Amino acid sequence: MAELLGEYARRETDWREFALFSPHHYTRNLVERVPSFELMILCWGPGQESAIHNHEGQDCWMAVLSGVIEEVRYAWPSDCAPIQQGSATTFVQGQVAFIRDEMGLHLVRPAAGSPSGITLHLYASPYDECNCYCPSTGQVTRKKLGHHSVRGRILTESADRFAP
Ligand code: SIN
Repeated sequence: MAELLGEYARRETDWREFALFSPHHYTRNLVERVPSFELMILCWGPGQESAIHNHEGQDCWMAVLSGVIEEVRYAWPSDCAPIQQGSATTFVQGQVAFIRDEMGLHLVRPAAGSPSGITLHLYASPYDECNCYCPSTGQVTRKKLGHHSVRGRILTESADRFAP
């Protein structure tokens, strides 16, 4: 799967119609969703990043389409303790990251020096909620995951829920 996504990210440009940014937070733009997987284009503007989050037992691939993206890994927190940061890895166009819960938690953002980025995410299977973790206390918040657009059509602000 990583090879396929990397190959696509290096060669193709037909994802551009789904790459819709928001000035307020990173966007999750749905391309396709079936019971076994969800495919999305995520757009990361300046200073925008995900929360530290888990992946609900699913397999998650992230291929960089544009810009330079940083993935920061974290260990699972013990009760009410600060979260321990692990590796920080940068990915350029065509490179693919993979995570599942056994590998820990992570956050994603444009790398320093890259004002924005666009990534292709494949989640197998889809999930609609995840846990977000406060770095200093380890406290967990349950977040609903929304979409900024569906197949190229921007949804109303109220549906644009995921702004951790
Ligand atoms: C990710 O988990 O790779 C990005 C965050 C998201 O799906 O919103």
